[in-house]
Amino acid sequence: MNTLGVLISGRGSNLQAIIDAMAAGRLDARIGAVISNRADAAGLARAASAGIEPIVVSHRHFATREDYDRALVDALRARRVDLVCLAGFMRLLSPVFVSAFPNAVLNIHPSLLPAFPGLDAQRQALDHGVKVTGATVHLVTPELDAGPIVLQAPVAVFDGDTVETLSARILAEEHRIYPEAVGLVLGRAWRVIVLNDDHNTFQGVAFALSNVLPGVSYDKGMELANRIHNSGQALVWSGEKETAELYWAQLHDFGLTMAPLEQ
Ligand code: GRF
Repeated sequence: MNTLGVLISGRGSNLQAIIDAMAAGRLDARIGAVISNRADAAGLARAASAGIEPIVVSHRHFATREDYDRALVDALRARRVDLVCLAGFMRLLSPVFVSAFPNAVLNIHPSLLPAFPGLDAQRQALDHGVKVTGATVHLVTPELDAGPIVLQAPVAVFDGDTVETLSARILAEEHRIYPEAVGLVLGRAWRVIVLNDDHNTFQGVAFALSNVLPGVSYDKGMELANRIHNSGQALVWSGEKETAELYWAQLHDFGLTMAPLEQ
């Protein structure tokens, strides 16, 4: 059975939704660690009630973001966590953390990304006057709220909505889609792999490689795309140049030594 680690900073209602989905048999996994960066997070009591040891790792005790992230990684690895779920965790994670769990960190965000990333997404939606917003579960990359999208749910914005009324309706959708998205990723029903036999996809990969690798033309990109495919490997593409570079770096001067996607 897969083991989840859930990172929280506050209320923990999404943590509760995941706990409830497991208890109801809708999600086949266990939670190995609930970690908060704040000792006063209400979600810690939810973990304890579910028989999960609540852990506090305060960022205040670490000199750098990377030091803090290493402590989180150590705590999660010690509990053999396969997939990390950010659930209202109010800290940016550095590449140190993200690369420690390749393609295995999820986040929930209260908007239809890429619209309204960052703080106060519901307020941003109201201020912009959109008629539809929603919730997104996505894979975490070092860029804020920018990774590949796993599931989304739309939520209508009504005349007279306040941040509170809109947030409540979005939250109900968050609680529905987060456990579902976790199940999809654990069940391998959703992947970031895009390379396959489809010629158009090869073209897309060739174009992407020529964009991110210095000195690589489109034709060279096509050759590399074919070599990757012929080596039986797959390529991860998130759409963000900085993200892609984390993976491209592993191409080792076109020697095509690539890290496994799922570890
Ligand atoms: C949710 O709205 C989530 O989308 C955002 O932070 C909030 C966390 O709520 N990232 P909770 O702690 O899960 O109740």
